[in-house]
This record gives sequence, structure tokens and C-alpha cells, in this order.
Amino acid sequence: MCGIVGYIGKDNGIDLVLEGLKELEYRGYDSSGIAGLGKSQDPFVFKEVGRINNLENKLKKQEISSNLVIGHTRWATHGKPSKNNSHPHYNNSKNIFVVHNGIIENYLDIKKELIQKGYTFYSETDTEVIPNLIDYYFKETKDFKKAIKMALNDLRGTYALLISSSLLDNRLFLARLGSPLVAGFAKDYIIIASDQSVILKHTKKVTYLEDFDLAEVSNNKIKIENLKTLKTFDPKIEILESNLTEDSLNGFPDYMLKEIFDIPETIRLASRGRIDSKKRLVKLGGLDSVISQLEHIERIIIVACGTSYYAGMFGEYLIEELADIPVEVVLASEFKYKKEPISRSTCVIAVSQSGETADTIAALNKVKDFGVLKLGIVNVIGSTISRITDAGVYCHAGTEKAVASTKAFVSQIVILVLISLRLKNVSSKQTKEILKELENLPAKIEELLAKKEDIKKISQKYSKYKDFLFIGRGYDYPTALEGALKLKEVSYIHAEGYAAGEMKHGPIAMIDSNFPTVALIGDDSLYEKTLSNVEEIKARKGPVLVITSRVDKKIKDLVDDLFYIPRSSNYTESILTAVFLQLFAYYISKDLGLNVDRPRNLAKSVTVE
Ligand code: F6R
Repeated sequence: MCGIVGYIGKDNGIDLVLEGLKELEYRGYDSSGIAGLGKSQDPFVFKEVGRINNLENKLKKQEISSNLVIGHTRWATHGKPSKNNSHPHYNNSKNIFVVHNGIIENYLDIKKELIQKGYTFYSETDTEVIPNLIDYYFKETKDFKKAIKMALNDLRGTYALLISSSLLDNRLFLARLGSPLVAGFAKDYIIIASDQSVILKHTKKVTYLEDFDLAEVSNNKIKIENLKTLKTFDPKIEILESNLTEDSLNGFPDYMLKEIFDIPETIRLASRGRIDSKKRLVKLGGLDSVISQLEHIERIIIVACGTSYYAGMFGEYLIEELADIPVEVVLASEFKYKKEPISRSTCVIAVSQSGETADTIAALNKVKDFGVLKLGIVNVIGSTISRITDAGVYCHAGTEKAVASTKAFVSQIVILVLISLRLKNVSSKQTKEILKELENLPAKIEELLAKKEDIKKISQKYSKYKDFLFIGRGYDYPTALEGALKLKEVSYIHAEGYAAGEMKHGPIAMIDSNFPTVALIGDDSLYEKTLSNVEEIKARKGPVLVITSRVDKKIKDLVDDLFYIPRSSNYTESILTAVFLQLFAYYISKDLGLNVDRPRNLAKSVTVE
């Protein structure tokens, strides 16, 4: 989604802002732009559609430098990707510049009023109303900060804003409501971004803006006023803890493949220091502060979106089976509008790779005043969700750059396994077995990854089909849903995930020789049941690819293709299946010649509703 980078300091900040924008490329964007103040405060703005290199090449031809620069990568929400629609946006007099993440819901009303007052508009965006609104109030009040406050007061929606102007003497304003902004204090400059990964290279000293904060930034200081509490204060400095592992391609052709190959290490990192091998106990430091509250929990609601939601479904099966606590998994986008009774003995767990997903944040905000315990399972350290929850467990999966989530999904499941065992917290035989299996899992995944050429061959055979069904039971059910999502995302092929038991209730009608099924058959008590679904599909001439760990001649003779994964426990075997399905989607996308890391229309982190 859209990204923001800003610089204010003694030197020329253009290159630094461009580097920062490149750092955000993986999040998905369609255009980019920067604005600054040149010699004698002459404002400039440059925007280009497509890759940041286009903007960079354009800037190389200019003789400009600026010690106050704002930059943006845009992911179209209002209006197509075009130069006019790209940020920074400016007012009619071209002396107020704004970059914006988020959505202004009432922009059409504001635009109408501004047009009546004589303003004109060059873009289709919601953002363009902001500099003009500030302009309007500035003309009225002659006080820039007051004008910003009045403008913000008129906006309905969400925003992270950087506002610069040639009317100001080397000052920059930042504002936040529902979209992240973090400022870093480097030695001679301040760098601002919507994602802390941009800041890490410059400094670890940061401050996070909170909702309703309006910050005034000059050369090396920031003053914040919260427009809700009306309090003015110095920024609270935090030291950024980094979980960024080596995030270069390391010889891999794409991030998605690299991140799938990171999975064994991801599992080790997610469990490191959290398993007491001798006593066979789980220790989760992040939950220590709420452990007594956890003991009284009678119901858990997991909220999440997309792949994290499917990890949450895994959590439902795990927690109910292991910890014996009823769990509901709700899509965050539904939860926030759903009316339901929630008692204080409920715990809400938000699962999110980025920690910045707008719907998941809104779901947590909904229960803010309910007195319930809010936990986070988050990958990005210091992200909004990690800060608005009462406690939580970090995934420690390292940066995930490919848009399609792979290693973060696996780490979320590992954390959910650990949480399930921590809730129960008994050194039972079962706990021992599961922890042992978690320890063995990285090696088993390495064994599976070593067969990547076989997986590639199978995938290539299936890349010609236009529709797919993924079926599974138990833990293989969320795995089937995730397998279908992965294929849709990176190959644009229609794929549906189904509980295998639902086949006869509808989906079997679609089956014919052009509609393949990927059947996930765990080596458990449900094996025979899913096998009979496969027989029904074969009887209707549907091509079938089976993923299983059970060696059984009956299946071998029945299906078109078969891939054996290493045997693991019932709780962890589906993780191996999920890794197979990630590779399956990856190789189909590659076979179709698509951009696997940056699929069309998608963004890495969905920071608008
Ligand atoms: C799928 C994918 C998305 C995310 C979803 C939630 O590969 O990446 O479906 O899982 O947007 O994002 P997070 O986990 O950052 O809250």
C-alpha cells in the first residue's frame, strides 16, 4: 500500500528519501513522487508513474537539492495510476504540499464546497482536498498550524500526513489518525516514514505518532500536540528493536522463493528461548504480564485477515483441542461491524504479519473499552497492533518482502501451537510429543524443500488449468483455504478451498476433466473419509493431485499425481503441506511468467479499510 518518507536536516535529503521509497517498494505501488524546497524556498514537485527508477532518472536530470523533502509511493484507491493522481498533492497556489496514506471518506463534500469557493482540482484523489483546505483556512487565519488543525477537524476517515510549505520557515507538520507514522532521530536529521524498516538504517531512536497527534518538526526537534487531549508534549523516544534478518535475495531469483526457504530457520527463531527442552515446558515472556488474567479466560476470539485469518483457524483447532477453551475466528472486517455479546472473560487475539492491517486494528479498537484481554501475534516489532494490545508474542520471522505471505504464516502457526500449550501448561505426554515434533520440523521442511525440482515438475503440469479445488479436513481444512488463496494471489487462477466433507453439498457439481482437485490427506483418523471424497472426484473424471504422508498403494493407483511429505504429528503435519502448496503456487506463477513477488492489484500491508 502507499508509503511515506520524509527528511528534514542540514543536507540534501533527496537521495535519502528515494532510498527510503525503494525500501517500501515491496509493499506494492503504482506511482511515486517527491516534493521539496529548493534554493530560496522555491518549491518543486516531481511525480512519475511506474517504478521508482523512473522518478530517480527524472530527478537526475534536475539540478536541485533540498533539506526538507517529502516522498510517497501510491497504491491507487481514488483514480487510476497517473502523474496527476500521484502524491505529493498541492494547493492551487502550489505552495502547500501533502503526502497522505489512508482514505478521506468525505472528500467529495469538501471538494464541492471548495469548488464553490473558487478552488480547482487536477486529480481524482481524495488527498487533493487537504492542501486546498489548509490553504483556505490559512488565508482566513494567517496561522499555518491553526489552519492545519481546522482542516484536520473537517476530515472524516484515516490519515498519515506529511505537510510542507514554502510559506513555512523550514518546518514540517505530521499528523496521524488510523495510519502509522514513525519519526527517527538520526545524528543530523530527522527521518519520518510510514514503516519503521525505512528508519532502521539511519537510527534506532524513534517516536511513534499516536492517533490525533499533530507534530511540528524542525531541524532536530519535534513538538507534538494531541488534538483530542489538547496536550502538548515532547516525543517519547523508544529504541527500535530490530527483527530484520538478512533481507537481500541471497542468490534466490525472487523473495517468495527465498522466504519459503527461510521457513526452517523461521521455525527455529519462533521457538528459540521459548521451549524448555528439559522440562518440556513453553515459556512465552510476552505473556508473563497477563498470565493470571489468562487463567480466567473462558472464550477466545481470534481476529485477522487473509492468510493470517487462516493461521487463526489453525489456532481455533489447536486451542480447542489442546487447551480446551472455546475459540471463534472472525474476519476482522466483519468483526468490527458485528454486534455480539462479549464478556470480560473473553480474550481477543489479533494475528497479523505487518501489525498494521487497518481492519484488524479496527477490530481491536472496537473492544478497546470492553475490559477484555487483547493479545497480539505480530511479526513487525513496534507495529501498531503490537502497541495497542495488552501483551503478545512476536513471530520473529524477519522481514517478509514478497506480497504473498509464506514464512510469516508458518511462524504464526508455530506461535499458536506454543500459546495453546502455554494455556494448558502441563508437562503432559502430549506436550512433550508436540514440542519434540516442533524441534524436528525444520529438518523435515528442509527434506521437503530439497525436492523442489519434483514439486516444480508437478506444478508445471497443472499450470494449464483455469480452476482448482483444494480440499482437506481438520488442520488440512485451513491449509486448503490457504493453498487456494496462495494460488489465486500469485497466478490469478480461480481456486477454491473447501472442507472435504462439504464436497457432496455443492462443489462436486463443478468437477469434470478440466477442474483439478488438490486433495490434502493427513495421516490421521480422517484419512479414509477424505480418500472417499477423492474416489468420488475420480468417478467424475476430475484430475486429482494428492499430498499426504501415508504410503498407500490404493491412492497411488487411484490418483493422477501424488506427493509424499515427511510424516509429522497431527498438529504439525499440515505445516509441511502448506509449504508444498506455497511452492506449488510459486512454480505455477513462474511457469505463467508472472511477477510472483508483486502480484497485480495487491499490496503487502492493507492499511486502509
Ligand atoms: C496473503 C496475504 C494477505 C495478508 C492479509 C493480512 O498472502 O499476505 O492475505 O495475510 O492482508 O495481513 P497481515 O497479516 O499483515 O495483517
